[in-house]
Amino acid sequence: MEKQEIRTFGRRHGKKLSARQNILIKTVLPTISPMNLPANTGIILEIGFGAGEHMREIARQMPGKIIIGAEPFINGAASLLSAITNESNVVRDEYKNIRIFADDVRDFLRASDSKFEQIWILHPDPWPKARHEKRRLLNSEFLSLLASRLTPDGEIIIGTDHWEYYEWILAQTQIAKLKTKIPDLETIHTRYQHKNMAGTIAPKYLIIHA
Ligand SMILES: C[S@@+](CC[C@H](N)C(=O)[O-])C[C@H]1O[C@@H](n2cnc3c(N)ncnc32)[C@H](O)[C@@H]1O
Repeated sequence: MEKQEIRTFGRRHGKKLSARQNILIKTVLPTISPMNLPANTGIILEIGFGAGEHMREIARQMPGKIIIGAEPFINGAASLLSAITNESNVVRDEYKNIRIFADDVRDFLRASDSKFEQIWILHPDPWPKARHEKRRLLNSEFLSLLASRLTPDGEIIIGTDHWEYYEWILAQTQIAKLKTKIPDLETIHTRYQHKNMAGTIAPKYLIIHA
């Protein structure tokens, strides 16, 4: 029997979706799948996009690139769909480059052979209790897999306000012998960043490069 993969996210469902969100999930989500992408277009991946604020920002900044987001929390995908569509439920022009995989990114990576110019992971679930450490997504094995999916100049950009998780991720990059640098990035404002559950003064960022 195949070994079951450990779940790295909390919940798939939150509060009840609105009628419009249900329609968007049924009708728009299938039309913006990240499979069968056009050739010769730069691809950017965001893992665990939450409500998708950062994805929308980079989609507007880089209209020539495809921006893929993976998020198993269905309310997150629903929030992003609401924000990128107009009142007729059509994707707005500035967000036509967005693709959504509404599930575990590990399933997406197995199903696709895309290489990424950038991979963003902002505020990965920190799983602070020792007994939950195995749920942390950014372990050495997964980081190595991500690094193998970068284009020649590609980068993985990680940000977390959970400083203990940050140090843990740094240690995992050393185990995996990955090349890293500490960037001087301005704070990126996502929904989770505003909650500041860790109570730290600012998030810390890390870049893993090819
Ligand atoms: C703490 S939230 C941060 C959300 C968002 N990046 C932000 O900053 O507001 C972490 C997110 O990662 C998602 N996540 C956890 N494991 C994942 C996986 N294997 N694939 C995709 N997303 C995952 C969770 O569902 C959750 O929404």
